[in-house]
Amino acid sequence: MPVIDWEGQQVQLAAGESVLDGLLRIGADVAHSCRAGVCQSCLLKASSGQPGMASQAGLKAAWIEQSCFLACVCYPAGDLAVETPGAGVRSSAELIGMSWLSPTVLRVILQPEAPPVHRAGQYLTLFRDDGLARSYSIASLADEGKIELHVRIVPDGRMSSWLAQLASPGITVGIQGPAGNCFYTTGAPDQPLLLAATGTGLAPLYGIVREALEQGHCGPIWLYHGAANSEGLYLQAELEALAATHPNLRYRPVLRDRNGSITDFIINTHPQLKGWRGFICGNPDFVNSLKKRVFLSGMASREIHSDAFVPAPPSS
Ligand SMILES: Cc1cc2nc3c(=O)[nH]c(=O)nc-3n(C[C@H](O)[C@H](O)[C@H](O)COP(=O)(O)OP(=O)(O)OC[C@H]3O[C@@H](n4cnc5c(N)ncnc54)[C@H](O)[C@@H]3O)c2cc1C
Ligand code: FES
Repeated sequence: MPVIDWEGQQVQLAAGESVLDGLLRIGADVAHSCRAGVCQSCLLKASSGQPGMASQAGLKAAWIEQSCFLACVCYPAGDLAVETPGAGVRSSAELIGMSWLSPTVLRVILQPEAPPVHRAGQYLTLFRDDGLARSYSIASLADEGKIELHVRIVPDGRMSSWLAQLASPGITVGIQGPAGNCFYTTGAPDQPLLLAATGTGLAPLYGIVREALEQGHCGPIWLYHGAANSEGLYLQAELEALAATHPNLRYRPVLRDRNGSITDFIINTHPQLKGWRGFICGNPDFVNSLKKRVFLSGMASREIHSDAFVPAPPSS
């Protein structure tokens, strides 16, 4: 079985064991969260050996060129020497503002050390000093010069509770990214757009809708925000004001206690989605279910962009 070298410490992987699991078994301090190849928190760099293409799926070309890979889905065929990726992949940002968008959603504003290069809707990974890593979608446009995140406070959640209770403006955090393909692209300004989110899945869509309007998108844009009840909504006044000044934008909150399932609500309103582009973010079950339903309603798979907010497993 392959041997993994981590800062001079060596571990032989067991059959079916990922590089992440092998390193955690010997007590290595490797950042991780979803353990499913989604969040990119466990990004490492191979200084020798081949991590394998499957562990590089979805990574940007510049990171693949540097032999970066996702340790949680890396099952190498041969020995590897691995290290934490350095400058060029990770950098830092100052936390410059925090305010409550609702009783459970915190708006976090970061000033990155270098000017932001993201597209609204992509995500980044936030690192605490002790190495704890979690991914968050970006609600701000790059030309706004800062990074805005919307963080739902999870009871006993390590990162979200820390942000709400202990972090304060002036502290520095690590950031990695941007990553992901959930962002607006120009070239089809008349195309109907479907934007659908639950919870803080609104964060990327708040960026995407403003980017689309700023780029002069003139086709219809339907923005759905799902929540259990009215307390789960946020940015309602801002989105209503945006819709009032842009006749092609329709903003629809969907409340489970009043409207039923958001997935059924959307598909009943739009039974035919041929020619549409979709952006779907938030709870993984919702994202997976709506992706299937919009595809069955005629939306081409290349037009479906999504980010499922996969949490860290309970034991992680
Ligand atoms: C690509 C991507 C983008 C994301 N974007 C955002 C974003 O914009 N805003 C945002 O608020 N979050 C986002 N997340 C989720 C975020 O990364 C964290 O998972 C979340 O903030 C919880 O982290 P925590 O450390 O506070 O809680 P943890 O300490 O990780 O969790 C505490 C306990 O709660 C459970 N748990 C955590 N979240 C959930 C959940 N949603 N459902 C069920 N159980 C859960 C965990 O399994 C654990 O048992 C995103 C995730 C991904 C993969
Ligand atoms: S991608 Fe590996 S922990 Fe999320």
